[in-house]
Formats: sequence, structure tokens, C-alpha cells
Amino acid sequence: MTISPFLTLNDGHRIPQLGLGVYKVPDAAAADTVQVALEAGYRHIDTAALYENEAGVGEGISRVGLPRNDLFVTTKVWNDRHGYDETLRAFDESLGKLGLDFVDLYLIHWPAPRQDRYIETWRALEKLRADGLARSIGVSNFHTHHLDRLLAETDVVPAINQVELHPWLAQESVRAYDAAHGILTEAWSPLARGRAIGNETLDAIGAKHGRSAAQVVIRWHLQLGNVVIPKSVTPSRIRENFDVFDFELDIDDLAAIARLDSGERTGRDPDDLD
Ligand SMILES: NC(=O)c1ccc[n+]([C@@H]2O[C@H](COP(=O)([O-])OP(=O)(O)OC[C@H]3O[C@@H](n4cnc5c(N)ncnc54)[C@H](OP(=O)(O)O)[C@@H]3O)[C@@H](O)[C@H]2O)c1
Repeated sequence: MTISPFLTLNDGHRIPQLGLGVYKVPDAAAADTVQVALEAGYRHIDTAALYENEAGVGEGISRVGLPRNDLFVTTKVWNDRHGYDETLRAFDESLGKLGLDFVDLYLIHWPAPRQDRYIETWRALEKLRADGLARSIGVSNFHTHHLDRLLAETDVVPAINQVELHPWLAQESVRAYDAAHGILTEAWSPLARGRAIGNETLDAIGAKHGRSAAQVVIRWHLQLGNVVIPKSVTPSRIRENFDVFDFELDIDDLAAIARLDSGERTGRDPDDLD
């Protein structure tokens, strides 16, 4: 069976570069979705307390019954649980819903800068890592100025910064900053929530390689060195999105995709979300 390539995190753990995102997958559908993905070869699932499907994700994982160390599970602390003690409580709740003894990656979902508590929240993540309950810890939606502060005021450098990233928002400066500090960049909404589908440029590149626009974009992420977590609840698309390891985009393809970058977000600016 095909498996995803791995990238090595700054703490020595390895992450499958291609995973499945489950935002907006209802809890009742999450077990089936995760089962389809694991049976297709995925070994990395990205959920969050906000998604309210950690229980379904856990059920899907236990149904398939893979060895725990073959799986990589990420979840995230939501904005209303920032603060040291509150984050530790939120983590316990997530772990209980997932039915796991540890998670592979725990992320601060958003910096929520007006609350001004992401430093104490990070201290809780440092404790969870020291206790072995979160093997790796990281952040999500952190601008470089949030990372500057985190790096100056805390001890552990995040392993991952998960940000909105797709051909219309290539995030060059965030990727360069992350790379310079040993942080892997993970792309959320990697298909721009479906905008990639039916795009003329991507369709033309896909036709050249006998691939879909979604496969072209996922391949672009892989070649850029991003961790990438496309979401789908549709079994055929889950499998299609994983069938990307046997072709390569060339320099002209990469240049054409680079020209799509317009700095357009599909989601919120991290400085504007509490
Ligand atoms: N950290 C954060 O703040 C944050 C924010 C947003 C998302 N995320 C993470 O990133 C993951 C992915 O982002 P996302 O869910 O926003 O969007 P996305 O992966 O860019 O796009 C998902 C959409 O594309 C469709 N799709 C997927 N594969 C397709 C294919 N091969 N052909 C046609 N359509 C396809 C899906 O439809 P169907 O499902 O109907 O098949 C769904 O409507 C999330 O699930 C979540 O894990 C994190």
C-alpha cells in the first residue's frame, strides 16, 4: 500500500506530509470518513476541539485498529480555552473524546491576540510535551510577529505553524520565517476550500499530467515542502487526494501556479479573531 512521505519535526518526531483534515465533518460521519482514509493509506488526521468530531475521529481510528505508533493525530485548543490551567483541562477533554493516551501534535488553534494569553497557553503545551501527553507541540495561524514574541518569551520552539496556504495565498514570508526557525509550515484549506476545482490554470496543468486540479494543488504543496491536510468526506475524493506520489510538477507548472498568488484569504486574519 502507498504511504505518505514523512517530514522530520524539530523535536525529532516524524509527520506524514499528507494527512486528512476533518473540519466540518459531522461527528456522526467522522468515523466512516477516518476509516475510509486509513484504509486508503492515510496515517495522519487533523482535527480540533472546535470541530466537535474528536469522538467520531477516535471511533474511526479504533475501528481500523492500526498500531498507535503508525498513526499521527493532531488536535487543537480553541480560543475560549486559552490560559494555563484551562488549556490543560481542554487537552484532557480532547484526549478523552479521542480515546487516546497521547496525541502526536497539539496546536494553539489561533493566537487570539486581544486575549493576550497565548504565552501562558504555550506554557501549558510545554508541560503536556514534557509529560509525554503531546509528543509534539505547535501553533496555528501565528503571524511572524506572534512567533517573534513566543520565541523570545518561552522555551520550546513550535514544531509546526499551521496556516491558511493555497495557490492564492502562498504565504512566502511565513514559510521563509518558519524555515529559518526550524518550524514546519502546514497548509490549511490547501484547496482554498474548493476554489482550486475548475480553475483553468490548474486544469491545464492537470490535463498535461493526466491528473485533477486537486491532485495538482496537493502535489504543489508536497513539492514546496508543506505538510498538507486536504479535507473531504467523499470516499472517491479522499482516495484521489492521496494518489499524488507518482508524478511531478515541472518548473513551468510551478511558475504558472506561483502567478495565481494574490494574497487572498478564505478565512480570518489571525490578528482579527478573538
Ligand atoms: N488551523 C485552522 O485554523 C484551520 C482552518 C481551516 C481548516 N483547517 C484544517 O485544514 C483542513 C482542510 O481545510 P478545509 O477543510 O478548510 O478546505 P480544503 O481542504 O481546502 O477544501 C475542502 C473542500 O474541497 C472539496 N474537495 C476535497 N477534495 C476534492 C477533490 N478531489 N475534488 C473536488 N473537491 C474536493 C471538499 O468537498 P467534500 O468534503 O464534499 O468532498 C470540501 O468542500 C480542515 O479540514 C482542517 O483540518 C485548519
